[in-house]
Amino acid sequence: MAQHKIILDTDPGIDDAMAIFTAMAHPDIELLGLTTTFGNVSVDQATQNALTLVEMAGSETPVAQGVATPMIKPLAEFPDFVHGVDGFGNLNLAPPKRTSLPQSAAEFIVDQANQNPGEIVIVAIGPLGNLAQALQLDPELPSKIKQVVIMGGVIASDGNVSPVAEANILSDPHAADKVMAAAWPLVMVGLDVTHQIMLPRSLFDRIAKENAKVGSFMQSAAKFYIDFYSSVRNIDGCYSHDVSALAYVVHPELFETVSGPTCVATEGVAMGQTIMSRYGIPYMLDYWKDRPDQSACMGVDDAGVVDFFETAMTNSYWS
Ligand code: BDR
Ligand code: CA
Repeated sequence: MAQHKIILDTDPGIDDAMAIFTAMAHPDIELLGLTTTFGNVSVDQATQNALTLVEMAGSETPVAQGVATPMIKPLAEFPDFVHGVDGFGNLNLAPPKRTSLPQSAAEFIVDQANQNPGEIVIVAIGPLGNLAQALQLDPELPSKIKQVVIMGGVIASDGNVSPVAEANILSDPHAADKVMAAAWPLVMVGLDVTHQIMLPRSLFDRIAKENAKVGSFMQSAAKFYIDFYSSVRNIDGCYSHDVSALAYVVHPELFETVSGPTCVATEGVAMGQTIMSRYGIPYMLDYWKDRPDQSACMGVDDAGVVDFFETAMTNSYWS
């Protein structure tokens, strides 16, 4: 029986597609549903993409649509140079036949938490508006959730959308700050580790050969993502962002973590920075006072994460 009941909150997105397929295929994961958010694309496109992936994989995973805009700041332009206008590297696939649930993402999260108290891990791999909305809907939600694992933020390394900010957090810093302040155990799988894990182009060639269902789609979409990364970072591959959050859920032993109360800067030059007070020092500024400790991954066995992804993408689920 699967050991990890998860809800995947996502903005698909090419690396989101990698994570979604991994969650469907991994024998230790029970994927209760996908909840969508704006981020890499609009929320309507994200929902359409999530439904397309469900259909492509022949899965029955429900999809609930979430927030279309950030809580407070204006909606920014979508990063079509990273994920394509359609979120899948401009493959322009036919629209899916299935539709999303009548419930919103936040309602789905709260309902599932009530049905499975203390059992669900929310894995959030996009901006955090749905989690902030779910907290608003049910302030008791943190006590009903086992863990929150996010792909987002950066503690001691460099950002990817500013020198200090990671994309998912900068997309909705006010929501992220609310999520960091909530009393649930939260783990950030951020750029401190995801920039240490590279998925090489040759990996997607192998996946295309071994996975007849979704391998060639994954290879074509990944080509766009890898071309972006090789133009800006000089690597022949892409970083393993979203899939690494799932790797943490199943294999936390692959990661080293630090912990401390964490705030998100919501304006100014540091907007989107995730700032953890991790040395227990009583600072003069008291932003971190009265906040729960959260964790962040700082070290990783990168080969272990690559292997986790490749194994899930080529296992018997796909045959
Ligand atoms: C994150 O931003 C998005 O572009 C990716 O899907 C990932 O969730 C990386 O910073
Ligand atoms: Ca994402």
